[in-house]
Amino acid sequence: MSDKNRKKTTGKKIFDSVKELSDTVAETLLGKALDTPEKNLYIALSGGNTPRVIYQRLAEEPYRSQMPWDRIHLFWGDERCVPPQHPDSNFGMAAESFLNRISIPEENVHRIKGENRPDDEAARYEKEIRKLVPKSSSGIPRFDWIFLGLGIDGHIASLFPGSNALEEKKRICVAAVHPESGRKRITFTLPLINSSARVSFFVTGTDKGEIVSEILKGKKTRINYPAAMIKPFDGILEWWMEKNTAR
Ligand code: 6PG
Repeated sequence: MSDKNRKKTTGKKIFDSVKELSDTVAETLLGKALDTPEKNLYIALSGGNTPRVIYQRLAEEPYRSQMPWDRIHLFWGDERCVPPQHPDSNFGMAAESFLNRISIPEENVHRIKGENRPDDEAARYEKEIRKLVPKSSSGIPRFDWIFLGLGIDGHIASLFPGSNALEEKKRICVAAVHPESGRKRITFTLPLINSSARVSFFVTGTDKGEIVSEILKGKKTRINYPAAMIKPFDGILEWWMEKNTAR
């Protein structure tokens, strides 16, 4: 879909603190869930360190008891190819941060099985998403909300600068490789992320401020930042940032 036809809504949300940012994410999710009592919500979580405080907030009151967890389905935008109890596991981080402390039905937690063979698991996870997540008008599954972090090199999920996975047009989930460590990953692809109703970057700290401002200004950059390729076809794109991140 050409840029011209994309219904673009890009917004910046600047917060005084990570706590205020986390509270607002939890409040927004609760509000959305309560506003649509008849609907399940399909959410894709991000990994890395930044979202940990957001997840911890979801395990605290009032969200722990008021969130209709039975109508919330959780997926992951990417995973490291390690078992769930491994310290690098994105699922493991989420389990420790909130999943083990809330009453969400097990069948609503759709983790990427990082312990499996990467290509097989990417295909299996694609099937699970296509079976469960309602489709957009283009036939691609449409998440209600996708959380993204931002790598210092402009990567998102496990889509790294220059990686072939960025060229993927058909598959919605593929195996990938971390450019420095060579470690295997499994990741959503651009067609799936850009089919979401809402995509939110959560960026905190000072070290990513410059890259965010380059992307928001649409500057031509030396590296083609995968983060700059996030342009929802028919959805909201947001940058949630701490004030000392925003430039
Ligand atoms: C991962 C993530 C990745 C992450 C960024 C930012 O599995 O590592 O999904 O895309 O969001 O690397 O990581 P930090 O939040 O730790 O800076």
